[in-house]
Amino acid sequence: MKAKILELLRNRTEHMSGQEICNHFGVSRTAVWKVMKRLKEEGYELEAVPNKGYRLLSCPDILTESELKSRMTTKWAGRTLFYNHVTGSTNIDVKQYMDQGQPHGTLVVADIQNAGRGRRGRSWTSREGCGIAMSIGLKPDFSPDKASMLTLIMAMGVTAAIEEVTGLEVRIKWPNDLVIDKKKVCGILTEMNLEMDYIQSVVIGAGINVNMGEIPEEIKEVATSLMLEKGEPILRADLIEKTMKYFEHYYEIFLRKLNLEDLKEEYEVHLVNKDKMVQVLDPNGEFEGKAKGITKMGDLIVEKENGTVVEVYAGEVSVRGFYGYV
Ligand code: BTN
Repeated sequence: MKAKILELLRNRTEHMSGQEICNHFGVSRTAVWKVMKRLKEEGYELEAVPNKGYRLLSCPDILTESELKSRMTTKWAGRTLFYNHVTGSTNIDVKQYMDQGQPHGTLVVADIQNAGRGRRGRSWTSREGCGIAMSIGLKPDFSPDKASMLTLIMAMGVTAAIEEVTGLEVRIKWPNDLVIDKKKVCGILTEMNLEMDYIQSVVIGAGINVNMGEIPEEIKEVATSLMLEKGEPILRADLIEKTMKYFEHYYEIFLRKLNLEDLKEEYEVHLVNKDKMVQVLDPNGEFEGKAKGITKMGDLIVEKENGTVVEVYAGEVSVRGFYGYV
């Protein structure tokens, strides 16, 4: 009920009387009063005016289930959601929820991950109260070879969300990093759970550096946070809400053709590697070339110096900028 009351208050600019809330949910005045008290304890700023009622003035930067649920406007992405204050990895959590029968679009959010996973076997650290660690679980009907495109779709979703919430300009370092001014703010990890040769579930996790006031010395050169770039803190729940909204939007466009044909142009506008020299770290041998864009399957088109054009598959390799990270 807390989420429902919050949703009601959030969508109102006028005061809402206690009686109106009681009638809406068919509950007692005391029940409503208790929820209001709890919300205030959690940091919500609520104005209570006699004979007029309650009005929501501001929300704290918390990621509780009620805060997140009260914001969701999507049809399926993030409509079922779980918040774990501390966890190992949200990618593992959401896989387990999917195995237990939770629906397509289930979202898991954590404040602290103590065994966060990165790409290529690396780890991902997120500090309490500062970052976003979230994973969405999908149960798609398509074949496993399409799954690597989901990383690109999530990249587009998070990019659009950050741009809407902060006004900052975000670029995508193919396939799974988001950068602002050449420094990483978000990493994405897609993991597929197969049974024979069909997809049982796909998990797409995103880690976003949101309100870190400083970046650890060892990654300072290559990473930043939204707060450092914007100069003010960002409401993480807002960013999660918008990410779900845009992810759902792009995913549904992708589903029409099961490729990125209709998203390619927009993706390439944000592609930081476009027309830049890149080093392709392919397990079968590294090479260099100029990134020209992506194919409709999400592969990076790289033109080698000798004119040969290679389509690099997102599932297997990473690229690095010629003169450093980007
Ligand atoms: C990378 O840049 O290497 C990808 C990092 C992905 C981190 C996110 S945080 C939420 C989700 N849970 C994990 O364990 N990893 C992803």
